[in-house]
Amino acid sequence: MTGLRKWALAGALALGSAGAFAQSYPTKQITMIVPFAAGGPTDVIARIVSDHMSKTLGQPIIIENVGGAGGTTGSTRAAKAAPDGYTIMMGHMGTHGAAPGLYPNIAYNPQTDFEPVGLAAGTPILIVARKDFPAKDLKEFMAYVKANEAKVNNADAGPGSVSNITCILLHDMLKVNPVTIPYQGTGPLLNDLVSGKIDYACDQIVNLTPQLKAGTIKAYAVAMPARAKALPDVPTSTEGGLPDYQVSAWNAIFAPKGTPKDMVAKLNDALVKALADPATKGKLEDLGGIVPDAQGASSAALAELVKRENARWIPLLKSKVKQ
Ligand code: MLT
Repeated sequence: MTGLRKWALAGALALGSAGAFAQSYPTKQITMIVPFAAGGPTDVIARIVSDHMSKTLGQPIIIENVGGAGGTTGSTRAAKAAPDGYTIMMGHMGTHGAAPGLYPNIAYNPQTDFEPVGLAAGTPILIVARKDFPAKDLKEFMAYVKANEAKVNNADAGPGSVSNITCILLHDMLKVNPVTIPYQGTGPLLNDLVSGKIDYACDQIVNLTPQLKAGTIKAYAVAMPARAKALPDVPTSTEGGLPDYQVSAWNAIFAPKGTPKDMVAKLNDALVKALADPATKGKLEDLGGIVPDAQGASSAALAELVKRENARWIPLLKSKVKQ
């Protein structure tokens, strides 16, 4: 056999084995990085969907919480991980939409350093406060914060997080700049809201529904045109007198750039099956999550979403927050 033909055969074998390799994927556990503390909305969504995904994939998906810098520490870790299908992450509107607007030297580009796998859940935003905060509705909340700007304590999950950027929007509308205390995630933040250590936050519904139903915190508004099915007693921002405050977040799965397309397709297939599973979908919806259909959870739809969100948030944040 000529040298050239030997190379051709070797090439074909290599391609074939890579194809076969991808066909057997995954052959070991997968790590899903959650760039915030355990117990927060991104962690909760990650655990709900990965539980069903692991059944479809036939391998465990291990959640690794990597907090810090509004989710950019964990997202950077994921962007730099080997693109072998065994490290993925749950990102969101903060890490993959807004963060580049607040971190001039961010170590990743949400559009070019990741393979979008798919959207897991939309998460409406609520304005919530400790249960004895001295305001009975949104109008009184806004008046109190304006009158006591130097005294009130807001909290979030760090610059660029969803709880940070959605309260930046709120503060910009109210023309206030209160003290904001950063946490490793809104899971631990919620504990201090329940205990009354902090006054208020802007957070994702899936983190808040259990505590609101238990009456340990209170909500002034959901920033959506219509009330959330999971929380029918929480008025909309429009009903409360702040119609311009309309913002909803999202959480989605990403793999490092260069992860083979057929592995990404397998991960997306497992995600779509999880979101179609009645028990899994029900858990997300009971918490107030908005579950996409197969088209909404497609990789192509996520690529478009990230592009749109970068275009929306980056210039806005650059104009509002000194770099
Ligand atoms: C979390 O899971 O802690 C949140 O998604 C953080 C945030 O507010 O972005």
